[in-house]
Amino acid sequence: MIFSRITGTGGYLPDRVLTNKDLETMIDTTEQWIESRTGIRERRIAADDEFTVDLAERSALKAVEAAAIEPRAIDLIVVATTTADQVFPSTACLLQQRLGGEGYPAFDVQAVCAGFLFALGVADKFVRTGAARCALVVGAETFSRIIDWTDRRTCVLFGDGAGAVILQAGDRPGVMSTHLHSDGRYKDLLYVPVGVSRNFSKVRAGTAYTTMEGGEVFRWAVTAMSDIIDETVQANGLGKDDIDWLIPHQANIRIINAVGARAKIDPDKVVVTVSRHGNTSAASVPLALDQAVRDGRVQAGHRVLLEGFGGGFAWGSALITM
Ligand code: ACO
Repeated sequence: MIFSRITGTGGYLPDRVLTNKDLETMIDTTEQWIESRTGIRERRIAADDEFTVDLAERSALKAVEAAAIEPRAIDLIVVATTTADQVFPSTACLLQQRLGGEGYPAFDVQAVCAGFLFALGVADKFVRTGAARCALVVGAETFSRIIDWTDRRTCVLFGDGAGAVILQAGDRPGVMSTHLHSDGRYKDLLYVPVGVSRNFSKVRAGTAYTTMEGGEVFRWAVTAMSDIIDETVQANGLGKDDIDWLIPHQANIRIINAVGARAKIDPDKVVVTVSRHGNTSAASVPLALDQAVRDGRVQAGHRVLLEGFGGGFAWGSALITM
């Protein structure tokens, strides 16, 4: 039987730091309000000439290095992004060209803040069926470009970044299971109301912004992300004590704490990085995973539960043995 296994992780944050203090000069807010309501202290903003593929490439090269492979070993790229550089080609194709690859499949998936879990779920199935042996899975976003920087209810929450993993075929798991869900009935609670086929003039005018019912999103995120922990451990015949680390979507410390409390997970086992980069959407989970691997918390053999939740609604999880 073939399984997929994470053999390298990488992360990248743009250089420009936007602190809560900086935001005080832009909108009617305070450092204290932002930190106490969200746990976010600062976020990174891509330079004007820096694009999603640039962030993706930086994180991908770090994952390639950590896995000790050559980029030419890659035979599948799946990029999760909401903020593609171009309508087409996909960001994955742009990344493939940067990495010097050709011929193998490279494509994007779009599930907003759950995007990395969807990309990982797809790539895992390619590897398990023998269709790929060495997949590059990336979550990369320049979310700052679909934020109204005069709207204090949303602009304090988001930032830019990218995270990546190399997923290789092996004879033991690895990725133990993935679980993906969507519910389009809630499409009006978190969305950008424009696209290519609808109100495209607003995209051209640079006024395509994220809109959100914060309280409703909060409640849904807590319920979905705590329920999927039970679904994931039960599917593997495990208990929650068998999990070494929970790496939830990094949107808001209050959501993360509420998920941990509802699912009865020891807070010491929860990886939290939201204070330093805010909500980076599809990049948030692989960035947090990379951080926890590099600082030595997540080690070989550990069982790690990854989970994400975002617009759609869409949410997902993966149980991994590192
Ligand atoms: N600074 C100061 N005051 C603010 C700010 C701000 N940046 N934003 C809102 N307020 C005000 C509001 O206007 C309101 O004032 P009012 O009572 O005079 O009307 C007051 O603060 C309270 O507003 P609430 O919306 O009730 O504040 P709440 O405690 O719910 O926090 C927040 C708002 C942080 C947006 C919260 O609802 C939240 O985190 N929701 C989840 C959103 C999220 O994470 N979305 C990301 C995408 S989905 C995902 O990734 C899970």
